[in-house]
Amino acid sequence: MAQPKITRITLATLPTPLEDGGKLPSGAHLWVKRDDLTGLGVGGNKARKLEFLCGHAIDNGAKSLVTVGAAQSNHCRMTAAAGARLGLPTHLVVSGEKPSRLEGNQLLAAMFGATLHHTGLADTDWSSLESFRAQLTQQLVDHGEKPQSIPIGGSTAVGAIGYALAFDEIIAQCAKQNIVADAIVFTTSSGGTHAGLVAGLVRARVSDRLKHLPKIIGIGVAKGVALNSRSITDLANETLMLLGETSRATDKDVVIDPNYMGSDYAVATQAATDAAKWAALRGAWVLDAVYSAKGFSGLLGLDAKNEFGSDANVVFIHTGGLPSIFASH
Ligand SMILES: Cc1ncc(COP(=O)(O)O)c(C=O)c1O
Repeated sequence: MAQPKITRITLATLPTPLEDGGKLPSGAHLWVKRDDLTGLGVGGNKARKLEFLCGHAIDNGAKSLVTVGAAQSNHCRMTAAAGARLGLPTHLVVSGEKPSRLEGNQLLAAMFGATLHHTGLADTDWSSLESFRAQLTQQLVDHGEKPQSIPIGGSTAVGAIGYALAFDEIIAQCAKQNIVADAIVFTTSSGGTHAGLVAGLVRARVSDRLKHLPKIIGIGVAKGVALNSRSITDLANETLMLLGETSRATDKDVVIDPNYMGSDYAVATQAATDAAKWAALRGAWVLDAVYSAKGFSGLLGLDAKNEFGSDANVVFIHTGGLPSIFASH
């Protein structure tokens, strides 16, 4: 089978820093991978995916971008930022009604010139939001526009390539620090970050580059949108295919811990509030309540159960989420 063309457009400032986070309560060592500092439109994990998603869009001759998310979607804001950088008009399908005053991610998305389509739908009505995206995309096609339509979270195999390469970046930075990562922990929701990291792990495993492979642990923060482990395995395998790899991930490679989500997506948890305080006081890391604080509460919770081991090196990928700190809805 011919190798598909993969085009990358530079949108992120890479590599992002790997900061020494000091000791965790168990004695394990924390390292913070600052993907909140990817640079595009105030940063976050989506910049890595968008480098490939937008490369693909340009290859397809797209003249505009369409995507979808919750009211305070970081993915929508960063797609708007990519649209601004590339001169592509961007349409964002978002949950909720139009607020009287735009805040947080929506304020930034509007500054980046995106058109916001408020659907009135609930944050967690992922399937209706996706149907709305499909309808809007069709309307744009009918009007003779050439939109590239990107699913929730940009979690396609093309987007996940960004995190297969991030895996290599993390391992190289650990080597520079003379440490070996035992675990890589991050927030997972639509699964593209997770699938990409698993693809990166499989590539390292088959190449025998690493004597010791880190555990890849996703902390789930959304019920309805999170792909189950089976589909993250499939997405990782599709990503490996795009990268021209013949090796494959298995379900054993995919670990999602759902115990730190609380009752559902965006519902506050005490553990996340506490984790955000811990991170702010330890390293002035700013974690948001919806994503990164829940992910970090998972890391602290696993550490409290001594899951990593007291001499482990644990990397937390800070996936961003800063703008929603400044939003009241
Ligand atoms: C700040 C932040 N962290 C983590 C994630 C989860 O990434 P993924 O959708 O690739 O699972 C998102 C997704 O929107 C996010 O905005």
